[in-house]
Amino acid sequence: MDIKGRSIVSIRDFPKEDIEAIVNKALEVKSGKWKGALEGKVLATLFFEPSTRTRLSFESAMVSMGGQIIGFADANVSSAKKGESLADTIQTVMGYCDVIAMRHPVEGAARLASEVSTVPVINAGDGANQHPTQTFLDLATIKEEFGRLDGLRIGMLGDLKYGRTVHSLAKALSWFDTKQIFIAPPSLRMPENTLTQLRQSTAQYEEIADVSELKSEMDVLYVTRIQKERFADFQEYERVAGAYRIDKSMFEILGQKCRIMHPLPRVDEIAEELDATENAIYFRQAHNGIPTRQALLGLVTGAIQ
Ligand code: NCD
Repeated sequence: MDIKGRSIVSIRDFPKEDIEAIVNKALEVKSGKWKGALEGKVLATLFFEPSTRTRLSFESAMVSMGGQIIGFADANVSSAKKGESLADTIQTVMGYCDVIAMRHPVEGAARLASEVSTVPVINAGDGANQHPTQTFLDLATIKEEFGRLDGLRIGMLGDLKYGRTVHSLAKALSWFDTKQIFIAPPSLRMPENTLTQLRQSTAQYEEIADVSELKSEMDVLYVTRIQKERFADFQEYERVAGAYRIDKSMFEILGQKCRIMHPLPRVDEIAEELDATENAIYFRQAHNGIPTRQALLGLVTGAIQ
């Protein structure tokens, strides 16, 4: 796999071999190899949308491997506020850094940025579209937990319509011999374009409306919050708010060993009583953002091979 100089915009740009190689690289970085590899590199984090984990883990990944960071966490303090176009911002910032990580509310913004940039652009979330680095860290967490990405039953629960993490994850998992079960209220189903891509692959998937309809136990349940900020109609949001919540009693259906994942932030969809159980791996998942983003930053800048 050689992704030096490449942008990371959509998980669809990565064939199965690359996905496997990146996940393995993330776990290799986690094991302590490549210390200091990002020395002399500068990352710009351009966040036009709120973030805690993604931005801080990109920044921590960079500085803890010897690199430097510049950037902004709020579009209101950037020249976007003065009316500067995204293309102009990118063409300026690319002269200040070796790699850009960008989050933007508009779908396709990362693609546009990658087309004008001479340095790699990493999509840290573009609207409800994609969040590929989250998927790499999700897959690294699954691989770490089970030792494989094949032969698993993975449920995705919640806002599958607006949740970009599940769009990227479902597409990545379609390369693997893994059954995906999409669990969402009818108005929050996985979008048709994702389902079409899955149908064109060898992926197996099933759609149900509620956890109680599960017919067999799950290896992983990937829970998501309702993406309140993406609803055009507040009443539509109110109709689905609080529609699902995972608590300990659900393990009777999910299976006692089912791992619970969540990209976080959590609102109220996972009871806090789960946090201390062995099933809950969401905080470890969030921490895997560091080695995964170190691997990605190293690979695209050529600092890691
Ligand atoms: C997710 C996002 O921003 O898409 N958060 C994250 O990056 N871990 C999920 C969310 O906001 O619900």
